[in-house]
Amino acid sequence: MHLSQYASLFAGAFKAPHGYVKGFIVSHFYRRHGATRFLILDNFCKVEREIVSTFAAKVDRLEPNWKLEQRMLVLGIETSCDETGIALYDGERGIVAHNVYSQVEIHAEFGGVVPELASRDHIRKTTPLIKQTLAAASVALATVDAVAYTRGPGLVGALLVGSSVARSLAFGLDIPALGVHHMEGHLLSPMLDDDPPAMPFLALLVSGGHTLLVDVQGIGDYRILGESLDDAVGEAFDKTARMLGLGYPGGPAVEQLALQGRSDRFRFPRPMTNRPGLDFSFSGLKTYTLNTFNEHRDDVEARADIARAFVDAVVDTLVIKCRRALAQTGLKTLVVSGGVSANRALRDGLSRLARTLDVAVHYPKLEFCTDNGAMIAYAGYCRLRAGAADPLAYTVQPRWSLDSLSRVSQS
Ligand code: KG4
Ligand code: ZN
Repeated sequence: MHLSQYASLFAGAFKAPHGYVKGFIVSHFYRRHGATRFLILDNFCKVEREIVSTFAAKVDRLEPNWKLEQRMLVLGIETSCDETGIALYDGERGIVAHNVYSQVEIHAEFGGVVPELASRDHIRKTTPLIKQTLAAASVALATVDAVAYTRGPGLVGALLVGSSVARSLAFGLDIPALGVHHMEGHLLSPMLDDDPPAMPFLALLVSGGHTLLVDVQGIGDYRILGESLDDAVGEAFDKTARMLGLGYPGGPAVEQLALQGRSDRFRFPRPMTNRPGLDFSFSGLKTYTLNTFNEHRDDVEARADIARAFVDAVVDTLVIKCRRALAQTGLKTLVVSGGVSANRALRDGLSRLARTLDVAVHYPKLEFCTDNGAMIAYAGYCRLRAGAADPLAYTVQPRWSLDSLSRVSQS
Protein backbone atom coordinates (compact mmCIF):
# COMPACT_ATOMS: atom_id res chain seq x y z
CA MET A 1 0.00 0.00 0.00
CA HIS A 2 1.30 3.47 -0.78
CA LEU A 3 1.69 5.86 2.10
CA SER A 4 -0.42 8.34 0.16
CA GLN A 5 -3.31 6.07 0.98
CA TYR A 6 -2.62 6.72 4.66
CA ALA A 7 -2.88 10.47 4.23
CA SER A 8 -6.64 10.61 4.55
CA LEU A 9 -6.47 8.06 7.34
CA PHE A 10 -4.17 10.30 9.34
CA ALA A 11 -6.16 13.38 8.51
CA GLY A 12 -9.31 11.58 9.68
CA ALA A 13 -7.60 10.49 12.89
CA PHE A 14 -6.81 14.09 13.72
CA LYS A 15 -10.44 15.06 13.56
CA ALA A 16 -11.36 13.11 16.71
CA PRO A 17 -8.96 14.71 19.24
CA HIS A 18 -9.13 18.10 17.53
CA GLY A 19 -7.84 20.79 19.84
CA TYR A 20 -5.86 18.40 22.04
CA VAL A 21 -3.12 17.16 19.78
CA LYS A 22 -0.25 19.63 19.95
CA GLY A 23 2.16 18.13 17.51
CA PHE A 24 2.81 15.36 15.08
CA ILE A 25 6.15 13.77 14.49
CA VAL A 26 6.81 12.44 11.04
CA SER A 27 9.72 10.10 10.83
CA HIS A 28 11.36 10.01 7.45
CA PHE A 29 12.49 6.49 8.05
CA TYR A 30 12.49 5.61 4.41
CA ARG A 31 15.37 7.87 3.39
CA ARG A 32 18.33 6.09 4.89
CA HIS A 33 17.34 6.46 8.51
CA GLY A 34 15.43 8.78 10.56
CA ALA A 35 15.21 12.47 9.89
CA THR A 36 12.18 13.44 11.94
CA ARG A 37 9.93 16.37 11.54
CA PHE A 38 7.71 18.00 14.16
CA LEU A 39 4.58 19.70 12.91
CA ILE A 40 2.83 22.17 15.21
CA LEU A 41 -0.92 22.00 15.04
CA ASP A 42 -2.25 25.51 15.31
CA ASN A 43 -4.88 25.38 12.70
CA PHE A 44 -6.63 22.17 11.89
CA CYS A 45 -7.22 22.81 8.22
CA LYS A 46 -3.66 23.88 7.74
CA VAL A 47 -2.46 20.83 9.59
CA GLU A 48 -4.63 18.55 7.60
CA ARG A 49 -3.20 20.07 4.46
CA GLU A 50 0.28 19.73 5.79
CA ILE A 51 -0.21 16.11 6.67
CA VAL A 52 -1.55 15.37 3.27
CA SER A 53 1.27 17.21 1.54
CA THR A 54 3.86 15.57 3.79
CA PHE A 55 2.64 12.18 2.83
CA ALA A 56 2.35 13.14 -0.80
CA ALA A 57 5.97 14.27 -0.69
CA LYS A 58 6.95 10.99 0.91
CA VAL A 59 5.23 9.11 -1.84
CA ASP A 60 7.32 11.00 -4.36
CA ARG A 61 10.34 9.64 -2.57
CA LEU A 62 8.89 6.17 -2.45
CA GLU A 63 9.01 5.86 -6.18
CA PRO A 64 12.29 7.58 -6.82
CA ASN A 65 14.30 7.43 -9.91
CA TRP A 66 16.88 5.08 -8.45
CA LYS A 67 20.32 5.86 -9.69
CA LEU A 68 21.91 2.47 -9.76
CA GLU A 69 25.37 1.94 -11.01
CA GLN A 70 26.48 -0.75 -13.41
CA ARG A 71 28.52 -2.00 -10.47
CA MET A 72 25.57 -2.76 -8.26
CA LEU A 73 25.16 -5.65 -5.90
CA VAL A 74 21.83 -7.43 -6.25
CA LEU A 75 20.48 -9.92 -3.74
CA GLY A 76 18.35 -12.57 -5.48
CA ILE A 77 15.65 -14.50 -3.64
CA GLU A 78 13.89 -17.50 -5.23
CA THR A 79 11.07 -19.27 -3.38
CA SER A 80 8.57 -20.18 -6.10
CA CYS A 81 8.41 -23.93 -5.44
CA ASP A 82 10.47 -26.35 -3.40
CA GLU A 83 13.89 -24.72 -3.42
CA THR A 84 15.01 -21.73 -1.42
CA GLY A 85 17.63 -20.05 -3.60
CA ILE A 86 19.67 -17.04 -2.53
CA ALA A 87 22.43 -15.33 -4.54
CA LEU A 88 24.45 -12.16 -4.81
CA TYR A 89 25.11 -10.80 -8.29
CA ASP A 90 27.69 -8.09 -8.74
CA GLY A 91 27.44 -6.05 -11.96
CA GLU A 92 31.16 -6.37 -12.55
CA ARG A 93 32.14 -9.64 -10.93
CA GLY A 94 29.06 -11.71 -11.71
CA ILE A 95 27.73 -14.19 -9.15
CA VAL A 96 29.77 -13.74 -5.99
CA ALA A 97 27.89 -16.30 -3.85
CA HIS A 98 24.85 -18.50 -4.11
CA ASN A 99 23.13 -21.12 -2.04
CA VAL A 100 20.22 -23.41 -2.73
CA TYR A 101 18.37 -25.28 -0.04
CA SER A 102 16.28 -28.08 -1.52
CA GLN A 103 13.14 -29.31 0.23
CA VAL A 104 13.38 -32.71 -1.48
CA GLU A 105 13.44 -34.65 1.79
CA ILE A 106 10.33 -32.89 3.08
CA HIS A 107 8.24 -33.71 0.01
CA ALA A 108 9.72 -37.10 -0.88
CA GLU A 109 7.39 -39.10 1.35
CA PHE A 110 4.37 -37.49 -0.35
CA GLY A 111 5.66 -38.16 -3.88
CA GLY A 112 5.39 -34.50 -4.88
CA VAL A 113 5.46 -30.94 -3.59
CA VAL A 114 3.02 -30.17 -0.75
CA PRO A 115 2.44 -26.41 -1.10
CA GLU A 116 1.78 -25.67 2.58
CA LEU A 117 4.91 -27.51 3.68
CA ALA A 118 6.87 -25.66 1.02
CA SER A 119 5.73 -22.24 2.30
CA ARG A 120 6.52 -23.13 5.91
CA ASP A 121 9.98 -24.32 5.03
CA HIS A 122 10.73 -21.20 2.99
CA ILE A 123 9.85 -19.20 6.11
CA ARG A 124 12.40 -21.21 8.09
CA LYS A 125 15.17 -21.10 5.51
CA THR A 126 15.07 -17.78 3.65
CA THR A 127 16.60 -15.48 6.28
CA PRO A 128 19.34 -17.88 7.47
CA LEU A 129 20.26 -18.59 3.86
CA ILE A 130 20.54 -14.86 3.13
CA LYS A 131 22.91 -14.51 6.09
CA GLN A 132 24.89 -17.54 4.97
CA THR A 133 25.20 -16.17 1.41
CA LEU A 134 26.32 -12.73 2.61
CA ALA A 135 28.88 -14.38 4.88
CA ALA A 136 30.17 -16.58 2.05
CA ALA A 137 30.75 -13.49 -0.06
CA SER A 138 32.15 -11.51 2.91
CA VAL A 139 29.60 -8.85 2.15
CA ALA A 140 27.68 -6.72 4.65
CA LEU A 141 23.93 -6.48 4.19
CA ALA A 142 24.21 -2.68 4.10
CA THR A 143 26.25 -2.85 0.88
CA VAL A 144 23.46 -4.55 -1.08
CA ASP A 145 22.09 -2.09 -3.66
CA ALA A 146 18.85 -3.83 -4.66
CA VAL A 147 16.80 -6.94 -4.02
CA ALA A 148 15.30 -9.12 -6.77
CA TYR A 149 12.75 -11.77 -5.88
CA THR A 150 10.57 -14.23 -7.76
CA ARG A 151 7.10 -12.77 -8.13
CA GLY A 152 5.68 -15.66 -10.17
CA PRO A 153 4.72 -18.02 -11.64
CA GLY A 154 4.71 -20.56 -8.83
CA LEU A 155 2.99 -21.60 -5.62
CA VAL A 156 1.23 -18.63 -4.09
CA GLY A 157 2.27 -19.24 -0.47
CA ALA A 158 5.85 -19.99 -1.41
CA LEU A 159 6.04 -16.86 -3.58
CA LEU A 160 4.61 -14.74 -0.77
CA VAL A 161 7.40 -15.78 1.59
CA GLY A 162 10.24 -14.68 -0.70
CA SER A 163 8.39 -11.55 -1.81
CA SER A 164 7.66 -10.45 1.76
CA VAL A 165 11.21 -10.99 2.89
CA ALA A 166 12.59 -9.22 -0.19
CA ARG A 167 10.23 -6.29 0.01
CA SER A 168 10.74 -5.78 3.76
CA LEU A 169 14.49 -6.03 3.45
CA ALA A 170 14.57 -3.49 0.64
CA PHE A 171 12.29 -1.18 2.61
CA GLY A 172 14.51 -1.42 5.69
CA LEU A 173 17.67 -0.81 3.67
CA ASP A 174 16.04 1.95 1.61
CA ILE A 175 16.93 0.28 -1.66
CA PRO A 176 14.78 -0.78 -4.62
CA ALA A 177 13.17 -4.19 -4.94
CA LEU A 178 11.99 -5.89 -8.09
CA GLY A 179 9.72 -8.87 -8.68
CA VAL A 180 11.15 -11.15 -11.36
CA HIS A 181 9.41 -13.64 -13.68
CA HIS A 182 10.71 -17.09 -12.76
CA MET A 183 10.83 -18.26 -16.38
CA GLU A 184 12.73 -15.14 -17.43
CA GLY A 185 15.21 -16.17 -14.75
CA HIS A 186 15.55 -19.61 -16.37
CA LEU A 187 15.67 -18.09 -19.84
CA LEU A 188 18.54 -15.78 -18.90
CA SER A 189 20.43 -18.33 -16.77
CA PRO A 190 22.88 -19.26 -19.59
CA MET A 191 23.95 -15.58 -19.54
CA LEU A 192 25.77 -16.40 -16.29
CA ASP A 193 28.13 -18.57 -18.30
CA ASP A 194 31.68 -17.55 -19.22
CA ASP A 195 30.60 -17.70 -22.85
CA PRO A 196 27.05 -16.27 -22.81
CA PRO A 197 24.76 -16.47 -25.87
CA ALA A 198 24.18 -13.36 -27.94
CA MET A 199 20.62 -12.25 -28.65
CA PRO A 200 18.51 -12.87 -30.66
CA PHE A 201 18.10 -16.58 -29.93
CA LEU A 202 15.56 -19.35 -29.77
CA ALA A 203 14.91 -20.49 -26.20
CA LEU A 204 13.64 -23.92 -25.24
CA LEU A 205 12.46 -23.70 -21.64
CA VAL A 206 11.90 -27.09 -20.06
CA SER A 207 11.00 -27.11 -16.39
CA GLY A 208 8.59 -28.79 -14.00
CA GLY A 209 5.81 -26.34 -14.80
CA HIS A 210 6.55 -25.13 -18.33
CA THR A 211 7.59 -26.28 -21.79
CA LEU A 212 8.07 -23.22 -23.97
CA LEU A 213 9.68 -22.32 -27.26
CA VAL A 214 10.41 -18.61 -27.26
CA ASP A 215 11.73 -16.22 -29.88
CA VAL A 216 13.99 -13.97 -27.80
CA GLN A 217 14.87 -10.71 -29.53
CA GLY A 218 16.07 -8.95 -26.39
CA ILE A 219 15.52 -8.96 -22.64
CA GLY A 220 11.76 -8.80 -22.19
CA ASP A 221 11.15 -9.05 -25.93
CA TYR A 222 9.67 -12.52 -26.00
CA ARG A 223 7.34 -14.18 -28.48
CA ILE A 224 6.03 -17.56 -27.44
CA LEU A 225 6.14 -19.85 -30.46
CA GLY A 226 4.94 -23.02 -28.79
CA GLU A 227 3.98 -24.36 -25.38
CA SER A 228 2.66 -27.45 -23.71
CA LEU A 229 -1.07 -27.93 -23.98
CA ASP A 230 -1.07 -30.19 -20.92
CA ASP A 231 1.79 -31.60 -18.82
CA ALA A 232 5.16 -29.88 -18.88
CA VAL A 233 8.18 -32.05 -19.73
CA GLY A 234 9.48 -32.02 -16.16
CA GLU A 235 6.05 -32.97 -14.90
CA ALA A 236 5.99 -35.92 -17.33
CA PHE A 237 9.40 -37.00 -15.98
CA ASP A 238 8.12 -36.73 -12.40
CA LYS A 239 4.94 -38.71 -13.12
CA THR A 240 6.86 -41.37 -15.02
CA ALA A 241 9.25 -41.68 -12.09
CA ARG A 242 6.36 -42.16 -9.69
CA MET A 243 4.84 -44.82 -11.90
CA LEU A 244 8.18 -46.66 -12.09
CA GLY A 245 8.49 -46.47 -8.32
CA LEU A 246 11.44 -44.07 -8.45
CA GLY A 247 10.03 -41.45 -6.09
CA TYR A 248 10.47 -37.71 -6.14
CA PRO A 249 12.04 -35.75 -7.77
CA GLY A 250 11.70 -37.82 -10.87
CA GLY A 251 13.85 -36.33 -13.62
CA PRO A 252 17.32 -37.36 -12.48
CA ALA A 253 16.04 -40.81 -11.36
CA VAL A 254 14.42 -41.56 -14.74
CA GLU A 255 17.59 -40.35 -16.45
CA GLN A 256 19.73 -42.77 -14.42
CA LEU A 257 17.42 -45.74 -14.94
CA ALA A 258 17.18 -45.03 -18.68
CA LEU A 259 20.96 -45.38 -18.95
CA GLN A 260 20.57 -49.06 -18.08
CA GLY A 261 17.74 -49.63 -20.58
CA ARG A 262 17.73 -50.91 -24.16
CA SER A 263 16.74 -48.48 -26.88
CA ASP A 264 15.43 -51.14 -29.29
CA ARG A 265 12.82 -52.79 -27.09
CA PHE A 266 10.00 -50.22 -27.02
CA ARG A 267 9.20 -47.30 -29.25
CA PHE A 268 6.96 -44.66 -27.68
CA PRO A 269 5.05 -42.00 -29.67
CA ARG A 270 6.59 -38.60 -30.40
CA PRO A 271 3.52 -36.50 -29.57
CA MET A 272 2.33 -33.78 -31.97
CA THR A 273 5.28 -34.18 -34.29
CA ASN A 274 3.33 -35.53 -37.26
CA ARG A 275 1.39 -32.30 -37.68
CA PRO A 276 2.57 -28.73 -38.14
CA GLY A 277 3.01 -26.36 -35.22
CA LEU A 278 5.28 -25.87 -32.26
CA ASP A 279 3.02 -26.77 -29.34
CA PHE A 280 3.66 -29.79 -27.14
CA SER A 281 1.57 -32.38 -25.36
CA PHE A 282 3.09 -34.89 -22.99
CA SER A 283 0.11 -36.37 -21.19
CA GLY A 284 -0.53 -38.97 -23.92
CA LEU A 285 3.08 -40.11 -23.72
CA LYS A 286 2.70 -40.47 -19.97
CA THR A 287 -0.40 -42.67 -20.46
CA TYR A 288 1.41 -44.73 -23.10
CA THR A 289 4.25 -45.22 -20.62
CA LEU A 290 1.80 -46.30 -17.92
CA ASN A 291 0.06 -48.80 -20.21
CA THR A 292 3.39 -50.31 -21.24
CA PHE A 293 4.43 -50.53 -17.61
CA ASN A 294 1.18 -52.30 -16.68
CA GLU A 295 1.68 -54.84 -19.48
CA HIS A 296 5.17 -55.69 -18.19
CA ARG A 297 4.68 -55.40 -14.44
CA ASP A 298 6.35 -58.73 -13.72
CA ASP A 299 9.34 -58.10 -15.93
CA VAL A 300 12.09 -56.50 -13.80
CA GLU A 301 14.18 -55.48 -16.78
CA ALA A 302 11.27 -53.73 -18.45
CA ARG A 303 11.46 -50.77 -16.07
CA ALA A 304 14.82 -49.60 -17.43
CA ASP A 305 13.72 -50.25 -21.03
CA ILE A 306 10.54 -48.23 -20.44
CA ALA A 307 12.51 -45.38 -18.89
CA ARG A 308 14.81 -45.46 -21.93
CA ALA A 309 11.88 -45.44 -24.38
CA PHE A 310 10.31 -42.53 -22.49
CA VAL A 311 13.51 -40.45 -22.51
CA ASP A 312 14.14 -41.22 -26.20
CA ALA A 313 10.60 -40.10 -27.08
CA VAL A 314 10.91 -36.87 -25.08
CA VAL A 315 14.32 -36.04 -26.55
CA ASP A 316 13.21 -36.80 -30.12
CA THR A 317 10.07 -34.68 -29.71
CA LEU A 318 12.01 -31.70 -28.36
CA VAL A 319 14.66 -32.05 -31.07
CA ILE A 320 12.02 -32.15 -33.82
CA LYS A 321 10.27 -29.04 -32.45
CA CYS A 322 13.55 -27.15 -32.06
CA ARG A 323 14.53 -28.02 -35.61
CA ARG A 324 11.16 -26.70 -36.78
CA ALA A 325 11.36 -23.51 -34.70
CA LEU A 326 14.90 -22.77 -35.92
CA ALA A 327 13.79 -23.22 -39.54
CA GLN A 328 10.72 -21.06 -38.98
CA THR A 329 12.56 -18.17 -37.30
CA GLY A 330 15.90 -18.39 -39.07
CA LEU A 331 17.58 -17.94 -35.67
CA LYS A 332 21.14 -19.21 -35.45
CA THR A 333 21.44 -19.63 -31.68
CA LEU A 334 19.58 -22.07 -29.46
CA VAL A 335 19.39 -21.66 -25.68
CA VAL A 336 18.06 -24.51 -23.55
CA SER A 337 17.26 -23.98 -19.88
CA GLY A 338 15.07 -25.03 -16.93
CA GLY A 339 15.40 -28.14 -14.76
CA VAL A 340 15.13 -30.66 -17.62
CA SER A 341 18.05 -28.98 -19.44
CA ALA A 342 20.26 -30.83 -16.95
CA ASN A 343 19.36 -34.05 -18.79
CA ARG A 344 22.38 -35.48 -20.59
CA ALA A 345 20.42 -37.28 -23.31
CA LEU A 346 18.55 -34.07 -24.12
CA ARG A 347 21.80 -32.09 -24.27
CA ASP A 348 23.34 -34.71 -26.54
CA GLY A 349 20.31 -34.71 -28.87
CA LEU A 350 20.13 -30.93 -29.13
CA SER A 351 23.89 -30.54 -29.53
CA ARG A 352 23.77 -33.04 -32.42
CA LEU A 353 20.96 -31.02 -34.01
CA ALA A 354 22.90 -27.79 -33.55
CA ARG A 355 25.98 -29.30 -35.21
CA THR A 356 23.90 -30.52 -38.16
CA LEU A 357 22.30 -27.10 -38.64
CA ASP A 358 25.44 -25.14 -37.82
CA VAL A 359 23.63 -23.40 -34.99
CA ALA A 360 25.24 -22.36 -31.68
CA VAL A 361 23.74 -24.00 -28.61
CA HIS A 362 23.97 -22.88 -24.99
CA TYR A 363 22.95 -24.52 -21.72
CA PRO A 364 23.18 -23.15 -18.20
CA LYS A 365 25.83 -24.52 -15.87
CA LEU A 366 24.38 -27.61 -14.21
CA GLU A 367 24.01 -25.81 -10.87
CA PHE A 368 21.81 -23.17 -12.57
CA CYS A 369 19.50 -25.58 -14.45
CA THR A 370 17.11 -26.22 -11.59
CA ASP A 371 15.70 -23.42 -9.45
CA ASN A 372 18.25 -21.08 -7.93
CA GLY A 373 18.67 -17.51 -6.70
CA ALA A 374 21.44 -16.66 -9.17
CA MET A 375 19.14 -16.51 -12.19
CA ILE A 376 16.72 -14.29 -10.25
CA ALA A 377 19.50 -11.95 -9.11
CA TYR A 378 20.75 -11.70 -12.70
CA ALA A 379 17.33 -11.17 -14.33
CA GLY A 380 16.59 -8.58 -11.62
CA TYR A 381 19.93 -6.89 -12.26
CA CYS A 382 19.17 -6.52 -15.99
CA ARG A 383 15.88 -4.80 -15.26
CA LEU A 384 17.03 -2.72 -12.25
CA ARG A 385 19.97 -1.41 -14.26
CA ALA A 386 17.46 -0.15 -16.81
CA GLY A 387 15.60 1.74 -14.08
CA ALA A 388 12.84 -0.71 -13.16
CA ALA A 389 11.74 -0.92 -9.51
CA ASP A 390 8.55 -1.98 -7.78
CA PRO A 391 6.42 0.31 -5.66
CA LEU A 392 6.07 -0.57 -1.99
CA ALA A 393 2.92 -2.50 -2.72
CA TYR A 394 3.79 -5.97 -3.87
CA THR A 395 1.72 -8.73 -5.33
CA VAL A 396 2.68 -12.20 -6.38
CA GLN A 397 1.55 -13.69 -9.67
CA PRO A 398 1.08 -17.46 -9.45
CA ARG A 399 0.10 -17.34 -13.12
CA TRP A 400 2.03 -14.95 -15.30
CA SER A 401 2.60 -15.07 -19.04
CA LEU A 402 6.20 -14.61 -20.13
CA ASP A 403 5.26 -12.58 -23.18
CA SER A 404 3.49 -9.95 -21.07
CA LEU A 405 6.85 -8.65 -19.80
CA SER A 406 8.16 -5.29 -20.91
CA ARG A 407 11.18 -4.95 -23.12
CA VAL A 408 14.35 -3.73 -21.46
CA SER A 409 16.49 -1.37 -23.48
CA GLN A 410 20.06 -2.53 -23.29
CA SER A 411 22.92 -0.13 -23.13
O1 KG4 B 1 13.27 -25.61 -13.37
P1 KG4 B 1 12.93 -26.49 -12.26
O2 KG4 B 1 13.92 -26.66 -11.14
O3 KG4 B 1 11.61 -26.07 -11.57
C1 KG4 B 1 10.53 -25.50 -12.22
O4 KG4 B 1 10.61 -24.30 -12.57
O5 KG4 B 1 9.57 -26.26 -12.42
O6 KG4 B 1 12.60 -27.90 -12.91
C2 KG4 B 1 12.30 -29.00 -12.14
C3 KG4 B 1 12.00 -30.12 -13.07
C4 KG4 B 1 11.46 -31.34 -12.35
O7 KG4 B 1 10.32 -31.78 -13.01
C5 KG4 B 1 12.61 -32.32 -12.46
O8 KG4 B 1 12.18 -33.68 -12.48
C6 KG4 B 1 13.24 -31.92 -13.77
O9 KG4 B 1 13.17 -30.52 -13.78
N1 KG4 B 1 14.62 -32.38 -13.89
C7 KG4 B 1 15.07 -33.26 -14.80
C8 KG4 B 1 16.43 -33.46 -14.55
N2 KG4 B 1 16.79 -32.68 -13.50
C9 KG4 B 1 15.66 -32.02 -13.10
N3 KG4 B 1 14.42 -33.91 -15.79
C10 KG4 B 1 15.14 -34.76 -16.55
N4 KG4 B 1 16.45 -35.00 -16.36
C11 KG4 B 1 17.14 -34.39 -15.38
N5 KG4 B 1 18.43 -34.64 -15.19
ZN1 ZN C 1 12.10 -23.31 -12.28
